[in-house]
Amino acid sequence: MKVFNVKNNVYSVGVSDPGLRVFDIMMETKHGTTYNSYLIKEQGGITIIDGVKEQFTDQWLNNIRSLVDISDIKYLVVQHTEPDHSGAIPHLLALNPNIQVFGSFMAMANLKEINNGAFNANVVKPKQELKLSDRQSLFFHPVPNVHWPDTIIIHDPFNDLAFTCDFLGMHIAPLQLFFSKEPNKAIIEEELTLYYDAIMAPFKSDALKSVATLKSLDVSMVLNSHGYILDTKEAVRWALDKYTKWSTVHKSDQLTVTVVFASAYGYTRRLKDVIVDELLKGGALVHVFEVPNVEIARIVGKIEESDVLIVASPTFVGDGIKPIYDVLNSLNPVIGHGKYASAFGSFGWSGEAIRNYLNRAKELRFKTVDDGFKVRLKPSEKDVEAARVYARNFITKVREELNK
Ligand SMILES: Cc1cc2nc3c(=O)[nH]c(=O)nc-3n(C[C@H](O)[C@H](O)[C@H](O)COP(=O)(O)O)c2cc1C
Ligand SMILES: [Fe+2]
Ligand SMILES: [Fe+2]
Repeated sequence: MKVFNVKNNVYSVGVSDPGLRVFDIMMETKHGTTYNSYLIKEQGGITIIDGVKEQFTDQWLNNIRSLVDISDIKYLVVQHTEPDHSGAIPHLLALNPNIQVFGSFMAMANLKEINNGAFNANVVKPKQELKLSDRQSLFFHPVPNVHWPDTIIIHDPFNDLAFTCDFLGMHIAPLQLFFSKEPNKAIIEEELTLYYDAIMAPFKSDALKSVATLKSLDVSMVLNSHGYILDTKEAVRWALDKYTKWSTVHKSDQLTVTVVFASAYGYTRRLKDVIVDELLKGGALVHVFEVPNVEIARIVGKIEESDVLIVASPTFVGDGIKPIYDVLNSLNPVIGHGKYASAFGSFGWSGEAIRNYLNRAKELRFKTVDDGFKVRLKPSEKDVEAARVYARNFITKVREELNK
């Protein structure tokens, strides 16, 4: 990517990675990505904001050299230390060990483990000012967990803009980086959405706090670290509105339970029917999904809105079944934290599914109040009554826990 002027004394010195097809092992990037890095060419206070992925070090350093001497760089601000932004930094610090590096406590600690050597680390406090010159200062705002604990954003009031790193980023490697100049806004929206879903979605409440921070700064430009720069106030507002919508979870006042089940011969289904009936009688709001015929994202969305997750299936070959694990494996401990889980099902001779689901739920930080419920083969009338008791006890215990 060629160096270009973003605004006044702010330049883009980042690099383009158009061939990237997978990011962070899991995320498909069909349009590649960019690793945006910025240089503030302020006399006496030359500053670099973020680095790039290590394999692009030479290009990044040459971009910087086209504007300034490396030896004249005074400051480096590290907003986030994931190696797509920090991998090249040790090479810059090797060339100029006098650079003063600024970042959160966590960012400085992480960079130590990436640089594997001493550097001039400066831990920043919330709203701390870094004076670049008589006319220009940068202000640091911690926005932890969008998406690492280390993250800060930078406000540059002189230029009326903010640097936000991954926050409001998108994986796309266009020929020019200005949002306002891209006629195909649909592609930006698609990539902003995919990026949010893959990277930010586990951190919805933190994303909302970061939206509030950025809104309070009321800037006319956002210089992020992947894809298009949001170069108008309207573009910034548009992206912030999207993040607000995606991050707002509509929790009901009613105790909300999501039940995810599968059943080969109808035995677990029979248990599901009576258990759901008891949950409804107990005043819960209940969402029921039969897997594998539902889009997992829809199920995850309902689990996020719920207080309780109950999974149900038979035991197959000494374990639970893939469609249920696919749901559990689409969750994370941020979702599970503060929620309750249970499991039930029919089994033939060993019945491991229930215990294994509960163990996985505990790894995901769901709390449990029982050992689940299981029935050997076809539920008898006695089993049906026991299932009702299980459901009533479960809901009572969860209510007690929630009211503690
Ligand atoms: C392919 C297959 C493998 C099974 N493996 C086990 C097993 O390892 N342990 C067990 O307790 N039951 C096992 N079973 C028995 C089922 O768990 C049992 O038939 C159960 O009642 C089915 O409930 P459903 O009607 O809700 O599907 C297996 C059943 C099938 C079809
Ligand atoms: Fe990141
Ligand atoms: Fe990133």
